[in-house]
Amino acid sequence: MLRGFKFRLTQDRHPASVEEYRQAAMRRLPSLVRAYIENGAEDEATLRANRGAFARWTLRQRVLTGTVKPRLETVIGGETITLPVMCAPTGFTALSHSSGDVAVARAAERAGTRIVLSTASSYSIEEVGAATNKPHGFQLYPFGNHEFAEGMLNRARESGYGALYVTVDVPVRGNRDAERRHGLTIPPVVSLGTALNCTFHPGWSLDLLRNGRLGAANYAPTGGLRGATMSDTITQQNRFMQTDLHWDDVAWMRDRWKGAFYIKGIMDVEDAVHAVEKIGVTGLVVSNHGGRQMDSAQGSLDALGAIGREVGGRAELILDGGVRRGTDVIKALCLGAKAVLIGRPYLYGLAAGGEDGVARVLEIFREELDRDLTLMGCPDIGLLDRSWLLPA
Ligand SMILES: Cc1cc2nc3c(=O)[nH]c(=O)nc-3n(C[C@H](O)[C@H](O)[C@H](O)COP(=O)(O)O)c2cc1C
Repeated sequence: MLRGFKFRLTQDRHPASVEEYRQAAMRRLPSLVRAYIENGAEDEATLRANRGAFARWTLRQRVLTGTVKPRLETVIGGETITLPVMCAPTGFTALSHSSGDVAVARAAERAGTRIVLSTASSYSIEEVGAATNKPHGFQLYPFGNHEFAEGMLNRARESGYGALYVTVDVPVRGNRDAERRHGLTIPPVVSLGTALNCTFHPGWSLDLLRNGRLGAANYAPTGGLRGATMSDTITQQNRFMQTDLHWDDVAWMRDRWKGAFYIKGIMDVEDAVHAVEKIGVTGLVVSNHGGRQMDSAQGSLDALGAIGREVGGRAELILDGGVRRGTDVIKALCLGAKAVLIGRPYLYGLAAGGEDGVARVLEIFREELDRDLTLMGCPDIGLLDRSWLLPA
């Protein structure tokens, strides 16, 4: 009667979904890092809106189409990737796991995709460049200090990065209550409670003590800092961040970067048109920074709908914010995106399992996309458009 079954004593311990990776990561990380990764700005309305926007769409289900192994390839900035899911820039990745950005980039290459390395990465432009084989993207904040920005651009070019992503939605830091409560302020304040909480997470604490990196590596040589501690880094970052940044600053960068050029953090149709017509971008990342900057901003998928209609054929659109399932990726592609970026999902994988954890999260997206497209009867992501969507 039981022939054909396999038995084991315990259930499969490997997380089966992004949500299960989230739970595993939350168990491993102390409250300080959980606050840094998980929370959004103020009342987190935008954080919720990002997820809510996906729930308002359903997908058509066509049957008997003979769909076998749907095609997942897409071209971003002239580079073919075999999974339309890339890793978004996130600062201080080594707070999740000491292997940080190098592990994320290696896992992305294993999955046939790319990362966008943050300005505030834990591993430097050069370290990640040396550890990888493909041209990844580099994210730059539009520092008003052009000399500093030019230094970063040159370093990225010399280290083989193919695309530049200029993030424009941080003229000031978002108002994140949870981060403040945990002392992620300037300067950082570590309370006894926070320090005690770290001791309850010995795996994380030992990793930090043995191999930890608290600072943003890219600031060390450029800013002349010794080793760039966390507080040095934040001070440095603030010094360069300015509220009076303007389109001219981005145009200046466009002139100096010969490769693919994206603006990240576009949510408004008029801004999208300006970026395409006046700056000549390769593409736009429709993003509200994962709900971490302006609260009460629209869900990013909602913004994608309008932006896709206006500039869809004229620039590559990439969506991020709240992508957690293969079906979310599909909905974004139906509304005009060529690919999506994920932020927190790969940080969950990194925290729970280092490079292999990130690789597994990306594999989960691939498996879900394969299965979902087969169930929809769609043989190629290139065929996805609004006709596949129905309002929920
Ligand atoms: C912990 C964390 C750090 C981030 N740091 C950066 C950054 O340095 N530069 C940047 O452009 N975006 C940064 N972002 C925003 C992400 O690039 C991305 O827009 C966002 O995470 C997407 O939403 P998701 O986390 O729901 O996937 C960060 C996001 C998180 C969660």
